[in-house]
Amino acid sequence: MSQDWPKHDMSFLGGRRLRRTRQSAWSRAMVRETELLPRDLIWPLFVIEGQNERTAIKTMPGVERLSIDLMVQAAKDARDAGIPALAIFPNTPDHLRAENGAEAYNPDNLMCRVLSAIKDAVPEIGLIADVALDEYSSDGQDGLVRDGEILNDETVHAMVRSALVQARAGADIIAPSDMMDGRVGAIREALDDEGFDHVQIMSYSAKYASCFYGPFREAVGSGSRLRGDKRTYQMDYANSDEALREIEQDILEGADSIMVKPGLPYLDVIRRAKDEFNVPIYAYQVSGEYAMIELAGAAGAINRDAAVLESLWAFKRAGANGILTYYALEMARKLGR
Ligand code: PBG
Repeated sequence: MSQDWPKHDMSFLGGRRLRRTRQSAWSRAMVRETELLPRDLIWPLFVIEGQNERTAIKTMPGVERLSIDLMVQAAKDARDAGIPALAIFPNTPDHLRAENGAEAYNPDNLMCRVLSAIKDAVPEIGLIADVALDEYSSDGQDGLVRDGEILNDETVHAMVRSALVQARAGADIIAPSDMMDGRVGAIREALDDEGFDHVQIMSYSAKYASCFYGPFREAVGSGSRLRGDKRTYQMDYANSDEALREIEQDILEGADSIMVKPGLPYLDVIRRAKDEFNVPIYAYQVSGEYAMIELAGAAGAINRDAAVLESLWAFKRAGANGILTYYALEMARKLGR
């Protein structure tokens, strides 16, 4: 008999009750602080050689690598759903991977061909091109390696060449993900010298050495090659002051926008960056985060659809201007309805 339950004397609250605004849907809508919209979502896609080819990625159930013709269709779907931009990653054929990663600056590489195919067919969507050597090199490292050392300035030289072929092929945004010192400034200078002053740089500024990239490395085919780790260039997850120094440096070198990566375990870094700097900040909900939601959902441990929505909204609350997410198309369609 609930009406018989004794009440606590709440007079100490002085009438202040925070549940008051949560009592009905209209009131919750009125006090809602952030929005999640299709234009907040950037869609990462993996490209492979071939015609009408799609291949599954074991550790990312629901995500497929696509051949160029299917990438063009995906770009149309993304545009129609209100997604502003795609982030593209190549799965380079094995025989083209070499120690020097030279395929990265072959003007006819898979990446350049997909960029120009989409630019021709779907000029309304933005194209973000990842720049790093791991997608082209035989050892899975983001930089050039000599005697086990990741070489900085030599890698920057290769990154600049890679960014230039991508810009010529139609990339709108160059996104260096290699974490070498000085790559943003070097790429900015080279782009400007070639008349690509309108091409943006979205820097993976605060990129942590993370276990959450595992499925991505399967997707681009670098995982089984990688020996050791990336801790001499990607950041230590114990740090966040250092993330602000990385971001500040990239802004000084000419980055138009910056990224924090991975996403959900690093919301504190997004918030600190948002409070400190006035540039657009993007979060990357990486492959391992995707896999966790999918696998926990499939196991019945969590409600998958609710988890997707809640995780994406958390990025907006933390201050991200947008999110790179493998859920982009699905969620843009849902949110657009
Ligand atoms: C490559 C790159 C990685 C990711 C984006 N660009 C992997 C890495 O640094 O090892 C990870 C994205 C993801 O996990 O979804 N430089």
